[in-house]
Amino acid sequence: MEAVIAAPDELARLAAGAIEKLLGSRPDAVIGLATGSSPLRVYDELVRLHLEAGLSFARASAFTLDEYVGLPPEHPARYLNVITQEIAQRVDFAPGAVRSPDGLAADIPAACAAYEDAVAQAGGVDLQILGIGTDGHVGFNEPGSSLASRTRIKTLTEQTRTDNARFFGGDITAVPHHCLTQGLATIMAARHIVLIARGRAKAEAVHQLVEGPVSAMWPATILQHHPHVTVLIDNPAASRLQLGDYFRSTYAAKPTWQGL
Ligand code: GLP
Repeated sequence: MEAVIAAPDELARLAAGAIEKLLGSRPDAVIGLATGSSPLRVYDELVRLHLEAGLSFARASAFTLDEYVGLPPEHPARYLNVITQEIAQRVDFAPGAVRSPDGLAADIPAACAAYEDAVAQAGGVDLQILGIGTDGHVGFNEPGSSLASRTRIKTLTEQTRTDNARFFGGDITAVPHHCLTQGLATIMAARHIVLIARGRAKAEAVHQLVEGPVSAMWPATILQHHPHVTVLIDNPAASRLQLGDYFRSTYAAKPTWQGL
């Protein structure tokens, strides 16, 4: 696990640069996209690279991590709509190339299995962008999630519903109780994982993710078992790290050829 502590703009450049490099070597790459506010600057940087440097997603495909259950197709907080607005429609993904779990499916277990199949048939995710919840969730894998979980229905915690009420006009009663989410084992199957954590509210979750024991109580800690994880952290989110000075000096001395 590589932890990089830097200013938000630099973090966005690093994550977008990793995707640019991937698409340079593999134009039909499979990208894992995350919702939430943390990756937004990364998406802005990808759009800039698309417009100014010719970065193309025309042969690429993408999968989102999760989706609320029961939101109508046009609901602005529906994650497929969010990801379409934040990134998919701003670059040149082919129609249908960005997929999300079907939160309106009549048969939820079948929809979850179909999503796992779709990811596998695409060849698996090459690079997964991740955020992290204040309670250490990734995707919507809340505390207590099986570390071996696959795409399934989950019940959101009150903490997460409170955190996400801002996307529902501040009304927690409008936030669904259920979601479909890639499981922790699904996420762990991605070949490179780039997690972005920003803001003081994430400091404890980042400390647990990077320095805590692996535990279902902090689901993101499973990433310690992944061979290629990059954690991009701004200074407020890094404020609880015991190894912060070490990570800063490591990044300052990082060989330029190395990349993420
Ligand atoms: C939601 C999403 C997660 C995201 C988290 C953090 O719960 N399901 O994928 O990581 O929010 O969001 P933010 O980056 O806005 O803090």
